[in-house]
Amino acid sequence: MELDGFAKPGSQESSLLKRIDKDRLPKHVAVIMDGNGRWAGKRKLPRVAGHRAGIESVQDIVESSAQLGLEVLTLFAFSVENWKRPHKEVRTLMSLLKEFIRRELAKVHKNNIRFQAIGRIQELDESVRSVLRNAMRITKANTGMLLNVALNYSGRAELVDTFNQLYRDLKQNGHKSPIDEDLISNSLYTSGVPDPDLLIRTSGEMRISNFLLWQIAYSEIYVTPTFWPDFRRRHLLEAILEYQQRDRRYGGI
Ligand code: FPP
Repeated sequence: MELDGFAKPGSQESSLLKRIDKDRLPKHVAVIMDGNGRWAGKRKLPRVAGHRAGIESVQDIVESSAQLGLEVLTLFAFSVENWKRPHKEVRTLMSLLKEFIRRELAKVHKNNIRFQAIGRIQELDESVRSVLRNAMRITKANTGMLLNVALNYSGRAELVDTFNQLYRDLKQNGHKSPIDEDLISNSLYTSGVPDPDLLIRTSGEMRISNFLLWQIAYSEIYVTPTFWPDFRRRHLLEAILEYQQRDRRYGGI
């Protein structure tokens, strides 16, 4: 596979790219962006410096994923559990998110990327919600990659919200057909989006951390020791190469 301007000729990225089979790319890549705090700690910097540095990785991975032709990229940016962190850290994370959108929206739009926020968005500050609404409105008709940013997200909370919605619909419209897997999939925050083929977690922890619990039933999991602020397109290509070597059997033989 070769892409104009994606990698310098002769670089590590360029040789990785050549080994990737463009016909077997994962459609949907989901990422648990972990290790910002440890990245900062290693440099004797405050944790928020790690989050700030993590924004550079977000930029590179969003752009690279779109250039590669992925259909969906889902980034876990803030979990329901993250409210337990010190107030200042939460505030910085929300500011960084707003800053990222303000700074990158024009490029995201130019790259034909559709932006979407998933999670309990209604519980976020109005200043965050208005930035999110604006980004979703501007990029609504884009036909390229879908960029899903999971915010105030938890997989269990998503299932609770989904089942409550289904319950309300059933009460209102009566019992039409039994609940099946398709109905649940189509009622989640990710309705209409294919399940992740590849789930990447940075910084070495072997955990799912309440991310996309329903959707990752058959995802290939790739854990790298690299901290999120160091994660760049080279690491994404390595993850995709490893994914292409896996034998996906979906429970069959
Ligand atoms: C995990 O590192 C990372 C987060 C909780 C936040 C990730 C957010 C960003 C990179 C910035 C905003 C996002 C977007 C999409 C613009 P950690 O703090 O848990 O690290 P540690 O495990 O080393 O402490």
